[in-house]
Amino acid sequence: MIVLNPPPLDTSFVPEKLLFRENEINKIMASTIVPLKNGVTSNTIIYGHSGTGKTATIKYLMKENPSMIYENGLSFSSIRQLLEHAITRLGKPTAFRGISMENIFTLLNSIMKLRGNIVLVIDEATNLLKNDQEGMYNIFRNNEIFNTHLSLILITMDYPFTYLGKNYGTVSEIKFSKYNERELFNIIRDRSIKALKPGSYTGEILQFISSISSEFGSARFAIELLQKSAYLAEYRLSDIIENDDVRSAVSLINPYITESKLSGLNKKELIVLFSICSNLKNELKTSVSDIYTGVSIISNTHYENISRKELYEIITRLEILGIINGNIESEGNKKGVYKFVSIDDVPVSILGRKIEDLLSRM
Ligand SMILES: Nc1ncnc2c1ncn2[C@@H]1O[C@H](COP(=O)(O)OP(=O)(O)OP(=O)(O)O)[C@@H](O)[C@H]1O
Ligand SMILES: [Mg+2]
Repeated sequence: MIVLNPPPLDTSFVPEKLLFRENEINKIMASTIVPLKNGVTSNTIIYGHSGTGKTATIKYLMKENPSMIYENGLSFSSIRQLLEHAITRLGKPTAFRGISMENIFTLLNSIMKLRGNIVLVIDEATNLLKNDQEGMYNIFRNNEIFNTHLSLILITMDYPFTYLGKNYGTVSEIKFSKYNERELFNIIRDRSIKALKPGSYTGEILQFISSISSEFGSARFAIELLQKSAYLAEYRLSDIIENDDVRSAVSLINPYITESKLSGLNKKELIVLFSICSNLKNELKTSVSDIYTGVSIISNTHYENISRKELYEIITRLEILGIINGNIESEGNKKGVYKFVSIDDVPVSILGRKIEDLLSRM
């Protein structure tokens, strides 16, 4: 068993402590929650790429702030429908569908008289913003139009102001940036400690996962990768998560057509790739000279001869095809730079077997 406690690996899990989002939490408090305590309403839009913690931050704030209510915009085709749902949840079921906006806001007013002013959070609001401009206008300006004190937080992935008209009044914007590699590492380390058996993962594996995920800057991607890698290792009856479990997990999340890419390669290119796969079985990266050593042995058995110059050209071509990643690293103290090669998104054991099969038929 590797996964001892599954919930922290679920993307709907809300951690007790949210890392690296203090600034954003403070901004939301200052723009919305604190003014509301003084009776001042406001409209805020939170935006940022997938997995940057928008929903988690709101859920975290909701634990401390009962004035906030949450709806997911994807479940509704109009603001009116969404508000009817919110009102029903707040204990005032609307007698029939399709009551007027005016009646909806009268009901909201009576609810807020009893329980205090409300911050309505609409997550995944992009479609509603695009498709229900009239509904949006009504909730953004509910204060003036219906004399209601409803504050609003909308959450979207793209920059919303391109399709938001000017007549919505003052709207604060809060951007959620992508997480960097170090931040992702800390987020998944926290989840690993909570969910996985001690000793079933190494710092290096967590580093590998965060490095792959940093391309997207998404904590969602990183946590999903950790979860899938752990289960894949468990499925192999292994006690520890290995590099290839992570690569398999990436290929599960990002199904990737290896076959068609391989079919375009000639014999020499397949030999080089095979050598890279062999070297990467227990390593995350391999140097050009180690690849060359492998290539010399393999090419002999296949009656080929690959020079160092050819090797460099083939490595460049494999990089351009997106099959391998190349990185130049410096050894420091003016010793020069070395090229290293890695494969992050396909399990090298599977790739190696496919190449062996192709080579045997050439
Ligand atoms: N700062 C953080 N600290 C700890 N966990 C985090 C943090 N940010 C995000 N997570 C976790 O990452 C996962 C994804 O985050 P979340 O669902 O909030 O992203 P999102 O920005 O709402 O993405 P989407 O636009 O795809 O809905 C969740 O499991 C969440 O708990
Ligand atoms: Mg979300």
